[in-house]
Amino acid sequence: MQIRLDITRRESAAEQSYLLSVMFESDDPAATVASALTEINADSGRRDINGRPFTPVRWECSCLQKKCGACAMVINGRPMLACDARLAELSRRGAVTVEPLKKFPPVADLIVDRSGMFEALESAGLWLENGGTVGSENTDLGFEASRCLQCGCCLEVCPNFYVGGEFFGMAAAVPNTRLLAAADDAAAGDLKASYRKHVYNGCGKSLACRSICPAGIDAERLLVSSNAAAVWKRRFGGRKKR
Ligand code: SF4
Ligand code: SF4
Ligand code: FES
Repeated sequence: MQIRLDITRRESAAEQSYLLSVMFESDDPAATVASALTEINADSGRRDINGRPFTPVRWECSCLQKKCGACAMVINGRPMLACDARLAELSRRGAVTVEPLKKFPPVADLIVDRSGMFEALESAGLWLENGGTVGSENTDLGFEASRCLQCGCCLEVCPNFYVGGEFFGMAAAVPNTRLLAAADDAAAGDLKASYRKHVYNGCGKSLACRSICPAGIDAERLLVSSNAAAVWKRRFGGRKKR
């Protein structure tokens, strides 16, 4: 197959972005955006579609097996993992567009600074204190939440998330849900307070994040579970049924 990649590049955070168009050829039906970037960068004679040489495209990766989240970027307008982005499917409608995530500060080419997401998670206090223990109350929910890669794809489509805000989005809701699903009552209080402050209060329930997760996490199910535990049970838990 022969595919045109339109890649958004940027020399540094201070400079304007520009488009690099390059043809990529492969006999591998399983070729991905990650394998294309790897091969393009490895070619010392690389040229764009106008025959001009260009420098290697900077991007991040680690596992190349959909396990680390490092290669998250926007492909054909949708956030996804480059190592999971099959070119054969993506190129059906023509050129494949490759851009960095836009919710995070740009660094260079396809690399963005996701430290704001990790700092938010740290400030959310997602750990157990006061001798809190983890039981096995809902291992199914906990297992689902444990698959989060912290890739940031859900934040990219969330209309309410921005770096530096008090609302931390699904990326914080998922690990919070994981702990809430297992924590005993003594340990769960701080988690519930953090959930209300950093997830529930800012979430517009639009569920734009519902089908975007590359790990297949069911955002709606996790939100429903944590809303019940951290909000509705608190508000209505003491009322008697009539
Ligand atoms: S919930 Fe899914 S999309 Fe969001 S950070 Fe985790 S793995 Fe990525
Ligand atoms: S439901 Fe909407 S506002 Fe809430 S985390 Fe998902 S995308 Fe963001
Ligand atoms: S390189 Fe790890 S998820 Fe793509």
